[in-house]
Amino acid sequence: MSPSPSPFAAAIGGSAVVDARRRADALAARGVEILDFGIGEPDFEPPAPVREALIRAVREGRDKYVDPRGLLALREAIASFETERHGLAADPDALVVTTGSVGALSLASRALFAPGDEVLLLEPCYGPYRNLVTLTGAVAVGVACAKRSGRFVVEREPLAAAVTAKTRAIIVNSPCNPTGRVLREPELRIIAGIAEEHDLWILSDEVYTDIPRMIAGSGHQSSHLGP
Ligand SMILES: Cc1ncc(COP(=O)(O)O)c(C=O)c1O
Repeated sequence: MSPSPSPFAAAIGGSAVVDARRRADALAARGVEILDFGIGEPDFEPPAPVREALIRAVREGRDKYVDPRGLLALREAIASFETERHGLAADPDALVVTTGSVGALSLASRALFAPGDEVLLLEPCYGPYRNLVTLTGAVAVGVACAKRSGRFVVEREPLAAAVTAKTRAIIVNSPCNPTGRVLREPELRIIAGIAEEHDLWILSDEVYTDIPRMIAGSGHQSSHLGP
């Protein structure tokens, strides 16, 4: 018998998306033609200066420990971005650089949630949020968004009704995977209002924050993207 994982780790399921991907890869390896509607691989390359800087860093031997929060120059650049883009007075010392959005959500979840806490998810939502919450021993509580004129909409009543004395946080994702929905100002005000009223954290996953800008820049039309 081998030692068991923690009950929290034992409680999480696998990823349906990764499972589908593995099965598709196995079929492709056998020569079956696969039409891939799966993993959201970007159809553009990282900008050339980023790739060049990465190659230069490897060549220059910049492979030693740095501040675990990330390079100061990078945190300063992120703070300036937050000030210019969102008008936030971000302190580089309060920023942590992570490997991707899930890395940040994972650290934030472990920093904020404890067994027995409840965390609200605005559904439909990105699948792994549920596992990230479960891994901390907290309970993920799905709040179904209302469907109005072809949009998934955040409304006050269902969100307020889901809050209990155990609620710790709301996880927000805009633009949203899987729906593509961009939250509008009244919806953001509802979320912020409930969070303030009940002293809740908001974890905001903004991994796709530039997509509306990119689409606007390309002259492309999307029915999902609101003002
Ligand atoms: C909403 C959302 N958050 C996070 C991620 C993962 O981001 P990262 O690869 O930066 O961890 C994805 C990837 O599909 C996503 O759709």
